[in-house]
Amino acid sequence: MNVWLFGYGSLIWRPDFEFLDRRQARVHGWQRRFWQGSHDHRGVPHRPGRVVTLVPESAGHCDGMAYLLDSEVAHRTFEALDYREKNGYEQVEVCIEFSPSEQVDGIVYIAPTDNHAFLGPAALDDMAAQIRICEGPSGKNSDYLFDLAAALRTLDAHDAHVFELETSVRMISMNGSGEESAR
Ligand code: BEZ
Repeated sequence: MNVWLFGYGSLIWRPDFEFLDRRQARVHGWQRRFWQGSHDHRGVPHRPGRVVTLVPESAGHCDGMAYLLDSEVAHRTFEALDYREKNGYEQVEVCIEFSPSEQVDGIVYIAPTDNHAFLGPAALDDMAAQIRICEGPSGKNSDYLFDLAAALRTLDAHDAHVFELETSVRMISMNGSGEESAR
């Protein structure tokens, strides 16, 4: 059986796997939040960055990109993602919506609130200050945020949490006060 995989973070703009098809999609009952700590990609153990996870919100939804994986290669893709996202993410089955009249079952990677790297909510300015200064083996935390915001704009998908954080990081960068307020 071919498998649909829903991406809502870096998978939107950088799927580094083979796929048969990709389509813009939405999952209901979840919202995207920069609440997961990253000490292996966009931060380091003594200064973890913030990356996205999905948290339950009955009235919420999250827009992203769904990828159709061939049954023959899906297990290799999941093995690679399980390794790449070993810092707290697990596979969850979701209903993926392409339009109100077209839905499929699929898989999404979610870092649940009880995982060891979960940071949870913080004031917008504090999250922005943290994202501004953090950097890890995969690059700057701020580039991850900016790339995500740009990818969402390409999809014409609005996400107030992401866009407000983006604005806040850019403002702090202009004012040059990020490092101090993150300490
Ligand atoms: C994603 O882009 O959907 C994704 C986010 C975090 C971990 C794995 C995948």
